[in-house]
Parts: sequence; structure tokens; C-alpha cells
Amino acid sequence: MRFENMVESIINEANASVILDEPMARHTSLKIGGSADIFVSPKGIDSLRKVIQIAQKNQVKTYIIGNGTNLLVSDDGIRGMVILIKEGMERVIVRKSKLPLVKAEAGVMLSKVLNVTTTHGLSGFEFAAGIPGSIGGAVAMNASTRLGAISELIHSIEVLTREGAVQKLRRKQLDFHYRQLNLESGAIILNSVFCLRYGDKAEVGKRVDDFLKERRDTQPKGSSAGCIFKNPPGGGSAGKIIDELGLKGKRTGGAYVSGVHANFIMNDGTATCKDFVALIRQIREIVEKKRNIKLEYEIKFLWNM
Ligand code: EPU
Repeated sequence: MRFENMVESIINEANASVILDEPMARHTSLKIGGSADIFVSPKGIDSLRKVIQIAQKNQVKTYIIGNGTNLLVSDDGIRGMVILIKEGMERVIVRKSKLPLVKAEAGVMLSKVLNVTTTHGLSGFEFAAGIPGSIGGAVAMNASTRLGAISELIHSIEVLTREGAVQKLRRKQLDFHYRQLNLESGAIILNSVFCLRYGDKAEVGKRVDDFLKERRDTQPKGSSAGCIFKNPPGGGSAGKIIDELGLKGKRTGGAYVSGVHANFIMNDGTATCKDFVALIRQIREIVEKKRNIKLEYEIKFLWNM
């Protein structure tokens, strides 16, 4: 068996679970993606550190994923190791000091954090209502909505460096941009501490419910990766631009532009990564030609490099 020794080390020394030839379609909201050679679920920080060491020792390339909500994975799959940040990294801790601090581990879902903060009547996290991602992914991509960005709430984060050290980075050390956080190469987000505000539980709950309703009314249900393109730097909505160009419903194979929000490309259940790439490229070309705007991708591409 390929990787035989490495798999044994991962199970016995790193106490992580391993699946060989795991279809990535099972781990992406788009339900697209060929098989990863090795799919590993570490059971916490120590387990993750060990998995990385084993991969480095065996010169196997690693790819970190969270909830897979912003990912387009190649139909050819991944030659190397995909590491899922979830198990043993899902705690949320509330500390009610002068200002309320909430520490959330990388594998916990934003919805769970929002649930905890709402229950405690803490305000600030309402922006995340309806975003279907994990904390690690949301911090790495600086998730945002019109109510705010995750970067605005961050007090500090901890990362696992390529060398295996846990490093704390305070907010002012973090290089956030729109839908982007620049970290040192190989750094893996372990947790994030958010600085929130004390609020009224009923009011926080109402803001969350209202925002959820707004999202339900303006964004499609079904298999997607959220917004495909970033909004252009000069302002305006990529979705609105694509819509104005009459591209809603445009289709390649099983991939089509949502009729609800044009920055969402949906999988009708039969789409391949190839369909997506072809459609996304066409949209970019049309927008560039007709509007002279080069749309940047918001989704992350996961393929062999
Ligand atoms: N609009 C259209 N047609 C469309 C889509 C939008 O006319 O097909 C119009 C809307 O009616 C509205 C304006 O464009 O007047 C802005 O639309 P929206 O409020 O949906 O905001 P957006 O800029 O398109 C951004 C984020 C979303 C986030 C929403 C809500 C980006 C790329 N997108 O979308 O994030 O949920 O604001 O706050 O920044 C995501 O990142 O996956 C995502 C969906």
C-alpha cells in the first residue's frame, strides 16, 4: 500500500484518523472534487502538530481545510494530504471581564459561536448570521457581510507555525484586507479571541433573526460556495454587475449562475470542477469586456501545485 508507513505513524503516533482516496466532494459545500490521496482528521493541536511533522518527514504536501464552504477542488483530486481542522478544536469559551472576550477554536462553526454569543447577550458577532463556515476559514478569509468583518472583532489569534510552535498574534500584528489575511507561509490558525460588547439578549437575537431573514430572501439555497468573486475595489457588487449583464441562469454542464444572486454559482448535482472553471472564466471575460473590470476570485482553489 502507498503511504503505508506514514499512515501507521499518523494513526499510532499522531492519534489522528486517516482515510485513503477520500472524495473531496464529501467535504465541500459545492459537492465537487476528486479524491485526496490521504485525508487526515487530527484530534486536537498536539495531534495536528504531529501530523504535520510526519508529512514533512515524508515530504508529502499538505492542504488545510475547514468546513469546505469556499473551496473549489479539482476533479483530479489532491496528490498529497488534506488535513481537516475540526475534531478536538471546536470549543468556545466566554470570559466576562470589563469587555467580553470569546475564544473560539478553529474547527467550530460560526453558527455555534453566534449561538453562544447571542445566548450571553453579547453583541458584535451578528454579522456572521447565516455564513456557513468554520472559525479557521472565516478568520483566514476575513469573512464579512454588510454588518461587519470578522477582523474588526479580533483581539488575537493563535497559529501553529511551520516549525510546530504555537504563536500568539495580536490584532495589530495581523495584516487583514478585504476577504484576506496574510499569514506566514505554512501557519495554521488554531483559535481566535474576539472582543465583543455587552448588549441586550433580545435585541441581539432580533438582529440575528432579521439578518438571517435578509440572507434567506437574497441568497440562494442549494449547493454553492457562496460568492465566487470579490466585490470590485471601486465599490459596487459583483453580483449586481453580473446580473446587469444578463448572466443569471447562464450554464456550463451542471454549473449555473443563480437566479437569486448572480455572484453565486450553483451545482445542480451533476457539475464538475471543469464546468465551474469554464463558467467562471466566461463570466470574468464578459465582465472585463463589457465593464472593463477584472473580477478577483473570492473562492479558494484547491489543486495540485
Ligand atoms: N444585486 C443585484 N443582483 C444580484 C445580486 C445583488 O441586483 O444578483 C444587488 C442587490 O439587490 C443589492 C446590491 O446588489 O442592491 C448588493 O447585494 P448584496 O446585499 O447581496 O451584497 P453583495 O455585495 O452582493 C456582499 C458579500 C456577501 C454578503 C452580502 C450581504 C462579497 C463578495 N459578498 O454581497 O458575502 O453575504 O454582502 O452582506 O463581498 C460571500 O462572501 O460568500 C457572500 C455571500
